[in-house]
Amino acid sequence: MVNSTHEKDILIDCKNLQKTFYTGGVETHALRDASCVIRRGEFVSIMGPSGSGKSTFMHLLSFLEEPTGGSYRFDGKDALAFDRKILARLRNQEIGFIFQAFNLLSKLTVHDNVELPLLYDFYTKGFSRSKEHKKRIAHALESVGLTHRAEYKAQYLSGGEKQRVAIARALVNNPKIIFADEPTGNLDSKAGLQVMKILQKLSADGHTIIMVTHEHSTARHASRILRLRDGVLERDEKVEDRLFATEMEELK
Ligand SMILES: Nc1ncnc2c1ncn2[C@@H]1O[C@H](COP(=O)(O)OP(=O)(O)OP(=O)(O)O)[C@@H](O)[C@H]1O
Ligand SMILES: [Mg+2]
Repeated sequence: MVNSTHEKDILIDCKNLQKTFYTGGVETHALRDASCVIRRGEFVSIMGPSGSGKSTFMHLLSFLEEPTGGSYRFDGKDALAFDRKILARLRNQEIGFIFQAFNLLSKLTVHDNVELPLLYDFYTKGFSRSKEHKKRIAHALESVGLTHRAEYKAQYLSGGEKQRVAIARALVNNPKIIFADEPTGNLDSKAGLQVMKILQKLSADGHTIIMVTHEHSTARHASRILRLRDGVLERDEKVEDRLFATEMEELK
């Protein structure tokens, strides 16, 4: 009984995950050995030196790349058995992505950028601008504090605002899990803290957050830190001196 409840809490369970790239006759062991268990609603940071395999690890966990070895269970199922159709649906509906470079479409408005993941419905079911979609966009913009920017073109926003639009876009399908690769890498410290505050709130609301970062101070907003070195997940530790972005802001 205890065991089954425990199992249900687990979103990610990977063992000896590996990724080797073969490019121009050269083998690169980007990820040699990564094992971890991540529960629903956890906020986990991935740290490690440049080239240690952080992005590769995240790409495997988020189904952007296929591993060349190891096992991976996602939400209780064998992820290596998922076909293209399942993967496309997962990437669209259950996973949100946030990148260092924001990756917005600069000529589109904030509203239309956030709407993009909803267009998947257009291809699968025949899209209509339903009330439900409008509500979801409004809710996503509200949760990042950007309701007043909805009709702005993305190109006119500050870096911090762009990243918050990217978070709203990641959120619009109410994903189980959000992957963020260096989300504060292009931001000043104040905008970075706003992003941390939003991610901590999302985690408190039950979203699982996995974030790659170089900065120890950013990593400490998570509840756990996984450390990679030369493609090996060497350490998995609880954050004892966790930072909370609201407290940090008040200190400023
Ligand atoms: N598509 C690819 N083809 C070949 N080699 C790759 C590919 N992607 C990553 N690598 C190599 O794998 C290793 C790990 O790369 P990765 O991008 O995961 O590191 P990282 O820890 O995210 O680094 P950074 O902090 O600089 O972003 C590096 O040596 C990199 O050059
Ligand atoms: Mg990287």
